[in-house]
Amino acid sequence: MNSLDTLNRLYGIPGLIEFLEEPNGLIHIAVTSAQASARISLQGAQIIQWTPQGEKPIIWLSDAATFRPGKSIRGGAPICWPWFGPHATRADFPAHGFARTLSWEMLTAATQPDGTVRIALHLPPDAMPKDQWPHDTTLECHFTIGTQLEVNLVTHNRSAHSLPLSQALHTYFRIGDIRQIQLTGLEDCPYLDKTLNGLHATQQGAVHFSQETDRIYLNSQRDILIEDPVLQRRIRITKSGSASTVVWNPWIEKSTKMGDMGDEGYLTMVCVENANAADDTIQLAPGQVHHLRVCYRSEPLA
Ligand code: BG6
Repeated sequence: MNSLDTLNRLYGIPGLIEFLEEPNGLIHIAVTSAQASARISLQGAQIIQWTPQGEKPIIWLSDAATFRPGKSIRGGAPICWPWFGPHATRADFPAHGFARTLSWEMLTAATQPDGTVRIALHLPPDAMPKDQWPHDTTLECHFTIGTQLEVNLVTHNRSAHSLPLSQALHTYFRIGDIRQIQLTGLEDCPYLDKTLNGLHATQQGAVHFSQETDRIYLNSQRDILIEDPVLQRRIRITKSGSASTVVWNPWIEKSTKMGDMGDEGYLTMVCVENANAADDTIQLAPGQVHHLRVCYRSEPLA
C-alpha cells in the first residue's frame, strides 16, 4: 500500500505535496507551500522538518540521524505511544512504545482555504504488536502545516475495558545555544528529576540549562515559551489534553554515548515534550477518544 507511485497518485498534489523515497527505503512526505515547508516520515508519522517561509527551521534534526527502518530517527517530533519512557513492567519492551518505529499509513492530504496543508496518518491496528499491546485501539495523527504547526494525536479505545495510556510528542526544537535559552511557563510546577532518580522538586523561575536535564513537569498546562536570544525568536507552545511536559537535553557525555546526536548536537537542541506521563497517565474508558493537541509558532523576540 505504501508504494511510492500509489502514494503520489492518491495523495500527491504537484508542487505542493510529494512522496519521496530515501536511499534506505523510508518514505517521506515533502510539503512546500507559500506558508511553510515540511517533511514527515511515514515511519513513526514523525515530522522531521518544519520551516515557515522566510524563517530558520523550527524543528531540530540531528546531523548524525540515521534513517533506518525500525530505528527511531534522532530529531523531529517522535510520537511516544502507548507508553512514555520505559514500560511499567516489561524492561524488554521498547522505550517510548512502538509507534515511533512502525510504518504508518496515509488517511488524507489536502490544502485548506486558508492556505494550510492538512495531512493525516494512522497506525494500522494490525501493525501494533499484540504481545505488547493486546488492546483494540486506533491511533491517528493529524498535522496542519502553515505559518504555525498544529499536531493532534488521537487515541480511540475501542475495547470493552479501560486502558492506561501514557504518551508524548517528543519534539526537538532548534535553538541557537542551549546555554543561552530560557523556558518560561513552567514556573511553580512540580517536577520529577530523572537525573536524580525521580527526585521531586518545584520549578523556581524560568528553566535554564548548564548540564544534563531530564524532567517530567506535572500540572503543566500553560503556554511554554522557548526564548532564544541567539536566533532572536521565541517559540510558543500551546497545548491541550496534556497536563505534563518533559524537558530534556542530554548534554555532552550522554550525547557522545548515543552515537546519533552529532558531536555538538546537544548545543542546538532542546526537547519540550507535551505529554501524559508519570502521575498524568490517562485511564481511557471504553469507547473514549483522547486528543493530545499542540500548536507551535515562532514570534520575534521583542
Ligand atoms: C526523553 C526521556 O523523553 O527521551 C529521556 O525523558 C530519554 O530519559 C530521551 O533519554 C531520549 O530517548 P530515546 O529513547 O529517544 O533515546
